[in-house]
Amino acid sequence: MQHVIGVFDSGVGGLTVMNEILARIPDVRIIYFGDTARVPYGNRSKEELIRFGEEIITFLVSQGAEAIVVACNTSSATALPTLREHFDIPILGMIEPGARLAVEETAHGKIGLIATETTVRSRAYSLAVSKALAKGVLPQNQGLKRAWKKGEQPIFLAQAQACSLFVPLVEAGLFNSAEARGIARTYLASIKEAGVDTLILGCTHYPFLSPVIREILGEGVKLVDPALAVVEELKRVLKKLDERDEREHLDAEKRLDEGEQPIEGQRIWRVRYFVSGDPELFRRVGNTLLKEPIGEVRPAPWVD
Ligand code: DGL
Repeated sequence: MQHVIGVFDSGVGGLTVMNEILARIPDVRIIYFGDTARVPYGNRSKEELIRFGEEIITFLVSQGAEAIVVACNTSSATALPTLREHFDIPILGMIEPGARLAVEETAHGKIGLIATETTVRSRAYSLAVSKALAKGVLPQNQGLKRAWKKGEQPIFLAQAQACSLFVPLVEAGLFNSAEARGIARTYLASIKEAGVDTLILGCTHYPFLSPVIREILGEGVKLVDPALAVVEELKRVLKKLDERDEREHLDAEKRLDEGEQPIEGQRIWRVRYFVSGDPELFRRVGNTLLKEPIGEVRPAPWVD
């Protein structure tokens, strides 16, 4: 059974998550929504982000989405608990999977974060790192694992830096430019100074800047992209949807017997793209970022 999932972000940033889903989950259909008319989300209020999330999820569900990936750290850090209360389908966020992955990857227990202003201010990642440890997530590094268990070495978010200009740079397709290098050098100074061994790329736009960030921080700092952990979680959600469908299979057949027809053409597409802003701009920049070509991008007429 091919399920339909909805993925959304403020713009092209969620395409880092799309790249991982497309590469690792071949049998799922995806509706992507980029809220390009209202990007950036990075300094929006929680109330605004809840409202945007509700509008977008309602739209994605109307298009057939059975589960949602909030491919935006800023929305995940602020709006996710409310969105989960308001919708009766699985909704995955970026923060908890990202924090878990960082705990697993850290070599010395000093984790850094770069994210939007709102995500940094929410302290969601710091909380999620503590929560992951409390739930029993452990670092792969055996020395650190032993030292942490004995209480000899802490594992914590040592430094968080907001990088507000990264999002407009990526949205403009300038992720590998001299401007990006200069701005990144300024932002990453505090991260360098803190001596972190692992850095969470806590905004879905940032993995597109990985080569620049690596150039500045060097190979000694491990870059963690939460998307990798989110995809693993999505696989588990899809398995549960499969089990649900198996259980309800007879009902579906019965419905067809009663005259209901499957939606025509439902199985022929893999990804559909919608944006609230300029479809052509999204297609042009998106095509330089996504590993698969983006064909048609449709406007979403419901946004005011
Ligand atoms: N890419 C989003 C995030 O992960 C939002 C960035 C923005 O629009 O400011 O936080």
